[in-house]
Amino acid sequence: MSTPDIPQKAPYPVDVESGKKYFWCACGKSGNQPFCDGSHEGTDFTPLSYQAEESTTLYFCGCKYSQGVPLCDGSHAKL
Ligand code: FES
Ligand code: FES
Repeated sequence: MSTPDIPQKAPYPVDVESGKKYFWCACGKSGNQPFCDGSHEGTDFTPLSYQAEESTTLYFCGCKYSQGVPLCDGSHAKL
């Protein structure tokens, strides 16, 4: 199984808007972290869609190894 690239071992804080959909980069190759820019093409990865339930600041996983993707769950500390 392929493993994702690790853009950074820390989350990306993002101010999300209620009701808006976001596409989190699962492969780690996007140049627009933490979101997909299409660079996963040719890999086994596809982006994960996430719909914000409220307007707030969320911490999207930047290491790609969270057990609670697309959000950071602290797993980056063990990498
Ligand atoms: Fe990483 Fe699309 S660029 S999932
Ligand atoms: Fe991936 Fe925190 S950045 S678990």
